[in-house]
Amino acid sequence: MARPVLEMRSISKTFPGVKALSEVNLTVTAGEVHAVCGENGAGKSTLMKVLSGVHPHGGYQGEIHFEGEPCRFRDIRASEQRGIVIIHQELALVPYLSIAENIFLGNEHATRGVISWHKTLTHAAALIRQVGLDESPHTRIADLGVGKQQLVEIAKALAKKVKLLILDEPTAALNDEDSRKLLDLILGLKAQGISCILISHKLNEIARVADAVTILRDGRTIETIAIGPEGISEERIIRGMVGRDLEHRYP
Ligand SMILES: Nc1ncnc2c1ncn2[C@@H]1O[C@H](COP(=O)(O)OP(=O)(O)OP(=O)(O)O)[C@@H](O)[C@H]1O
Ligand SMILES: [Mg+2]
Repeated sequence: MARPVLEMRSISKTFPGVKALSEVNLTVTAGEVHAVCGENGAGKSTLMKVLSGVHPHGGYQGEIHFEGEPCRFRDIRASEQRGIVIIHQELALVPYLSIAENIFLGNEHATRGVISWHKTLTHAAALIRQVGLDESPHTRIADLGVGKQQLVEIAKALAKKVKLLILDEPTAALNDEDSRKLLDLILGLKAQGISCILISHKLNEIARVADAVTILRDGRTIETIAIGPEGISEERIIRGMVGRDLEHRYP
């Protein structure tokens, strides 16, 4: 059996009047791209917010194990220190700061409290190259399209020494070319041993890059399907997402 890097066991999360997650299980194998699918409101983002400490420990039931150790994150910083980094559906860069400033925001290279801009810029330039972005570290975020902003988010995750990267619908606002670049980058990170959870409604993307897919429906885990070299059909995923009783709608 391949080694799991992440195990989320029996996770339940309630908001006032809404049971968003009911005993959800998610196991991610080390070094894989693991897709999470489900219709709007299925609980995908909530599950990832539990994982990354946005919804802190104490506000949900269940257990999280990362690299074999139990995790009880009280905030995002705590999950990032363990190497779990989430890029949200809504990008969170500061538009009027530069790429380098965004990459190292609150995280600049400092010696005894004095920020070394030279080190910060050199490191930023290396990360910018690593994600395949052809821009100066001084370029303002406001001057970049969404595709490039997404790459800056990934550079920022790499600066935090990410081990498990969570991407929540990263290609939703991207054109085909930018989507392809992003997916290739994800595969490149995988080759470097970085595991990835990819939430996407675009089933063709999942079929292309994912090693496994977990399907959520109405806050419950329906199934996890390993995707072999033969790939997976979009119909197979849709069947899990909507339930077999609706199968006739998707012949
Ligand atoms: N902060 C919140 N307060 C109250 N209800 C919430 C909150 N966040 C999520 N919910 C509810 O929890 C359920 C799951 O939402 P979630 O955002 O996790 O779904 P999703 O699968 O990510 O959907 P989408 O594909 O639309 O992004 C929904 O009913 C949603 O309205
Ligand atoms: Mg969502």
